[in-house]
Amino acid sequence: MILILLGAPGAGKGTQAEKIAAHYNLNHLSTGDLLRTAVAEGSELGRLAKGYMNKGQLVPDDVILGIIRDYLDEHAGVSVLFDGFPRTVTQAEGLDGLLKGDSVRTVSLEVDDEQVIKRLSARRSCRVCGKIYNTALGINPAPDGRCTCGGEIYQRDDDQAETITSRLMIYHDQTEPVISFYRGKGLLIEIEGTGSPDDVFGRIREVLG
Ligand code: AP5
Repeated sequence: MILILLGAPGAGKGTQAEKIAAHYNLNHLSTGDLLRTAVAEGSELGRLAKGYMNKGQLVPDDVILGIIRDYLDEHAGVSVLFDGFPRTVTQAEGLDGLLKGDSVRTVSLEVDDEQVIKRLSARRSCRVCGKIYNTALGINPAPDGRCTCGGEIYQRDDDQAETITSRLMIYHDQTEPVISFYRGKGLLIEIEGTGSPDDVFGRIREVLG
């Protein structure tokens, strides 16, 4: 099975992906996490991706589809949860071409822009394990100093106000058509993304069973 998690930046994809992958025993692939690791390692992919990511722009489709092709080759027959992919209709069509009869379900988390800006401005992440925290909303409170794994807590470069605005514009322009793409195929499940993370996960479980 392929489960696709869609939603605006800050809609809670990473937060829910952790719960979904554990509950349904899925292999979680976050293209954002993968690209951030490549940037931190200074690899060729990381050097290419960094400029796009820091401006809040999307990494080119051919680069992303190459990553997904390699991942699916290495994980043939395994159930996968995609978090942050596909981000354009070209990526969604490319994914269709890579699948070999796998059943696909798509969950879209619905959160308005005002809430997204609040969440992202206060997000903190662990540099080592990627755990997601927040400093302002009373959920997933960021510990002082270090993550439970001992890693450094930091603020993502693309969580600065100006970059959040361009990420949202790109989401509305390039990623919302992906929602229509899956709706047209009858594969879309829309979930209200507000309330506590456990509330949201409860709604997801209700529809996924
Ligand atoms: P990516 O890492 O995918 O970022 P994103 O889609 O912008 O999503 P975020 O990680 O910002 O948010 P999220 O929805 O996971 O929310 P989270 O759970 O953290 O991509 C980064 C960049 O990489 C892109 O801009 C692009 O450059 C590149 N890229 C990645 N994939 C690509 C692709 N396929 N094609 C091209 N380029 C690509 O939650 C956010 C905050 O809210 C946290 O602090 C959390 O604690 C809090 N929160 C979560 N749930 C709730 C809740 N229910 N109530 C209150 N607060 C909550």
